[in-house]
Amino acid sequence: MRCLIVGGGGREHALAWKMIQSPAVETLLIAPGNGGTAAMAAATSRVRTVPVQDGDISGLMDLVARERIDLVVAGPELPLTLGLADACAAAGVPCFGPVQAAARLEGSKIFAKESMVAAGVPTAGFAVFDDAAAARAHVLARSAPMVIKADGLAAGKGVVVAGTREEALEAVDAMLGARCFGEAGARILIEDALAGEEASLLALCDGEHVVPLPACQDHKAIFDGDTGPNTGGMGAYSPAPILPDASLQAMCDLAITPIVRLMAQRGAPFKGVLYAGLMFVDGQPFVLEYNVRFGDPECQPLMARLDCDLPAVLLACCQGRLTPEMLTIRPESALCLVLASAGYPGDYAKGKIITGLDVAETVPGVTVFHAGTRLEDGQVQTSGGRVLGVTALGTDLAQARDRAYAAADHIAFDGKYCRSDIGMKGLRRLGLA
Ligand code: AMP
Ligand code: GLY
Repeated sequence: MRCLIVGGGGREHALAWKMIQSPAVETLLIAPGNGGTAAMAAATSRVRTVPVQDGDISGLMDLVARERIDLVVAGPELPLTLGLADACAAAGVPCFGPVQAAARLEGSKIFAKESMVAAGVPTAGFAVFDDAAAARAHVLARSAPMVIKADGLAAGKGVVVAGTREEALEAVDAMLGARCFGEAGARILIEDALAGEEASLLALCDGEHVVPLPACQDHKAIFDGDTGPNTGGMGAYSPAPILPDASLQAMCDLAITPIVRLMAQRGAPFKGVLYAGLMFVDGQPFVLEYNVRFGDPECQPLMARLDCDLPAVLLACCQGRLTPEMLTIRPESALCLVLASAGYPGDYAKGKIITGLDVAETVPGVTVFHAGTRLEDGQVQTSGGRVLGVTALGTDLAQARDRAYAAADHIAFDGKYCRSDIGMKGLRRLGLA
């Protein structure tokens, strides 16, 4: 099989690492990839990276035709919201990832909320605005905290959890007034703020059948104790004690399956991985958002735990023949610790030399996935805010965590930053911290 992975982050390196373990994969292309996938390509002729960007749908489709690709795996949401899966369908090539009409679940937060209401999925109360004066009046008529969200994709910056009315008004003015996110903020949501603990539930879908993956917990804030601005995710682990395996199916029936049914009824069946961002409030789950792709970093501990043939499972999703038996998960825990560049999620330096990667991988159970790196003259350098995902398997969460931190100690680059408390919420819930 000839496969193409689209994207260039830690998620895509982890997918590539798992895909190439399958003997069925004769050739694996990654577009555009990163320093980690470039190193894979240097090590084996089965892997190649190609400099086509994830938003360049016609460039990607040229590649699919030229390379006679049998399976396209979309990593990020951008190509899906731009219609990559639709273009693949037109070309008769299976694509893991939903068509544009279903990718709106991530591309439009208003569409997602309206879909949740239509499907009976529990979510925070909300109101929709396209007029700044009406939105301001709504803010003034209610009490803080509240959450202001730009409707469209805003590079992960479109959500403001406002602790005061003033902050909420500022966000309204920035989005609807100054159009800080352009058309992505031409409509906004004003949502009730929920207080609780978050978890990520991802499920594979083939348009009709839904199979949950084990639960993960991400760490979105930049600093310890979940403080400071939100990032793409500073670390993740699986399983997550907040959502034990025994309740996965019930949670999936509540948060994912109704949406998959709704999309099928609407003539836009969801094929790919649907990710529900959950908030547990006094034990009660609410869906905060949907993503139409693997989470990053969540994908990294998930790939570490996956113990089956990934391309076969992804192809089954594309072809409507997904069954729970296809999925085998290792019983071990996995934890991914993100090493970031100082300053992220604000400005940060690039081009810093990274050392210690080989030594880090001598720690048992450890794989270092690359996110913002590039390979330059045989040297790995930083090229992004989230640089590496140090991912460890362990017999339990405590061992996975110890191994990831031990491996991370071996890695050095100027401005290396990581949180010191990844996994601690899980350990506390287990009574181990
Ligand atoms: P979203 O992109 O909608 O998941 O929002 C990003 C982050 O904002 C979430 O992971 C939460 O930490 C926070 N958030 C979103 N919606 C709410 C809400 N209704 N109440 C409290 N926090 C929220
Ligand atoms: N880690 C959160 C996300 O991928 O959206």
